Amino acid sequence: MTATDHTRLIGRAELNDLEAILAVANTDVTEALHEVHSNYDTVFTWDYNKGARPKLEKLYEKAKKSQWNGETDLPWECEVDQEALVIANAVATGGFGGGSLDLSGTPLASWGEKEWIQFGIESQNWTLSQFMHGEQGALVCTAKIVESVPWIDAKYYAATQIMDEARHVEVFGKYLNTKLSGHYPINAHLRLLLDDIISDSRWDMTYLGMQIMVEGLALAAFGFMFQMTTEPLLKQLLRYVMSDEARHVAFGVLSLQEYYAQLDASEIRERQEFAFEAAVLMRDRFLQQEVWERMGIPAKDVLPIMMQDVSERAAFQILLFSKIVPNCKKLGLLDAADGWLRRKFTELGVIQFEDWADTGAEYESMDAVSADREAALKTS
Ligand SMILES: [Fe+2]
Ligand SMILES: [Fe+2]
Repeated sequence: MTATDHTRLIGRAELNDLEAILAVANTDVTEALHEVHSNYDTVFTWDYNKGARPKLEKLYEKAKKSQWNGETDLPWECEVDQEALVIANAVATGGFGGGSLDLSGTPLASWGEKEWIQFGIESQNWTLSQFMHGEQGALVCTAKIVESVPWIDAKYYAATQIMDEARHVEVFGKYLNTKLSGHYPINAHLRLLLDDIISDSRWDMTYLGMQIMVEGLALAAFGFMFQMTTEPLLKQLLRYVMSDEARHVAFGVLSLQEYYAQLDASEIRERQEFAFEAAVLMRDRFLQQEVWERMGIPAKDVLPIMMQDVSERAAFQILLFSKIVPNCKKLGLLDAADGWLRRKFTELGVIQFEDWADTGAEYESMDAVSADREAALKTS
């Protein structure tokens, strides 16, 4: 791929040009409303034959049964001590700071425990804020899918997902407001991605951008955080959100598999490019540039150092792609058109996930809501 191609797709010639990545910043942090123009057709179907797509119908029936209530099904009475959690996490993962990195001579050399604890707290505020913004993106995208997808089974299913996403925005918002210590505005890379997904006129691009890329990443990120956190409220919140998200990604995989089968090579190439662009925007946002700025340190001075970190944080950034890559493979996107996307994912350092489990059927085993209800019935 030439530098010109990169510039066209991701706005810079070099994938890892840190200065160009950090130049994409949210300068309108007091913005209260954000309008995106989209130009797509709203599609009615007069074919009401429910179950014409059996896998989607099964997903819809599952979604109806596994609804939960964000107010009453989570242990909101749990007290959250952010500082204690940051310290416990540092102890569990081998101490504060950049893991094995030598920070002498860097702006972080003077940081003691106090600064690293504050950084951990800000980092959590930032992460949960971005989850909340991403969830609103999903809410809006799913509403668009209901309007634009031509299949009745998909409209039915997407309608349940709208309710799921409203609940997710609600619970992440409540957790931030009542248990954490500050909000962050949407990260500029995430906002660009959501804008791209919303404004595209083709219904399948909303699916690819949201259901496969954003939700695939969210599912991996929530899973990682679920494993790491010892805070019981957040653990249960993530467990239930993931139970829904696994269905959402399955919805994308099941729908696009059928649709992509009838696209020609140039149309598939456009989808590959869109997947790559989305992957890069998502990777760039996890640099958490706003957290460094809030700690009073220019991100450009510390990120080159932190990016050498091979610890937990670095492992997390790679793991984010553990659902996306196998799902793209299942959709045939990895190897179509001379394996263009395979080369790009190799360049991004994430191709090793290609044979991990895809999310076409995983939702059944991840249905924590049903599992809890069945267990409660047995004990009552
Ligand atoms: Fe969600
Ligand atoms: Fe979702």
